[in-house]
Amino acid sequence: MADDHIVLSGVRKSFGPKQVLNGIELAVPKGHSMVVIGGSGTGKSVMLKCILGIIRPDEGSIRVAGEEVTKLTGKARDDYLQRFGMLFQGAALFDSLPVWENVAFGLIQGRRMARAKARDIAMEKLGQVGLGEDVGKLYPAELSGGMQKRVGLARAIAAEPEIIFFDEPTTGLDPQARHLVWQKLRGLRAQGVTMLLTTHYMDEAAHLCDRIVIIDRGKIIEEGTPDGLIEKHAGKEVIEVQLGDHDAAPVIHELLRHDGLNVERFEDILYVFPQREGEFDPKRIEEHVERIIYRRANLEDVFLKLTGRGLAAGE
Ligand SMILES: Nc1ncnc2c1ncn2[C@@H]1O[C@H](COP(=O)(O)OP(=O)(O)O)[C@@H](O)[C@H]1O
Ligand SMILES: [Mg+2]
Repeated sequence: MADDHIVLSGVRKSFGPKQVLNGIELAVPKGHSMVVIGGSGTGKSVMLKCILGIIRPDEGSIRVAGEEVTKLTGKARDDYLQRFGMLFQGAALFDSLPVWENVAFGLIQGRRMARAKARDIAMEKLGQVGLGEDVGKLYPAELSGGMQKRVGLARAIAAEPEIIFFDEPTTGLDPQARHLVWQKLRGLRAQGVTMLLTTHYMDEAAHLCDRIVIIDRGKIIEEGTPDGLIEKHAGKEVIEVQLGDHDAAPVIHELLRHDGLNVERFEDILYVFPQREGEFDPKRIEEHVERIIYRRANLEDVFLKLTGRGLAAGE
């Protein structure tokens, strides 16, 4: 599409014998926010690093605003990186610089801005993520993990980039800090910044993006809006059947005797997806399980159904 800002096609990357990206196809339209979800170790961070040129893909094309970027070097690459704001897992701040200078780093080094002006902007951005001038004068080691992450966020937005990458922006944050980050991200989205995020918090994905892509075993296996994906793969309602010490086989057998139910098992829980409302009759299995819970279907169910694995499951 003409207004695609970032386009990956056929991107592959292996480390030694281990194939991590196995032909990634992805298009992020300009001004959209897209979330990549996938289990840990599935290549989300490697994919972002390929787009930034931190990791060079073995094969495939990456175009940003129409320009092939996989082979950029030197000044062309520095200029290219100026378009991005990024926040990686772990805020990666410079310990030897005060907080404000961390935030202002790209303005001073990349854009050659005068220090006093860059400092004013840094303080303003810190204010936008809920940190005062007093924090700006501290050193990163004097801050909590959550505050460091907010500083990382302030740094990512300091130069008002056209594209923002956030790699698990809220992992490890307390709920209050998490909501602050969300609020900021929603603001950026409203301003029309193109955003690519990764997360394994499903509520975050549903909150923050226009579209979701699901990555599994180095490939994008599905793409859609949060509601669209839920509707398509999980329906409206999910029944969680907690087995406890009970045997799964007879319960599954009983559930599958009737049409109209899909059943996924993950550890000691059966996830039952009725194709139509009222399809599920709890009386049939009640005595053979520990607990039955009814709830609305969510993105976690979509992920489980498509990959057969919970998000927390490793490689
Ligand atoms: N620089 C590297 N060298 C070797 N292996 C790597 C490197 N970076 C990532 N990997 C491996 O690639 C896989 C995907 O990593 P990553 O993209 O970080 O996963 P995640 O989806 O959790 O972000 C992992 O198995 C990881 O160990
Ligand atoms: Mg990662």
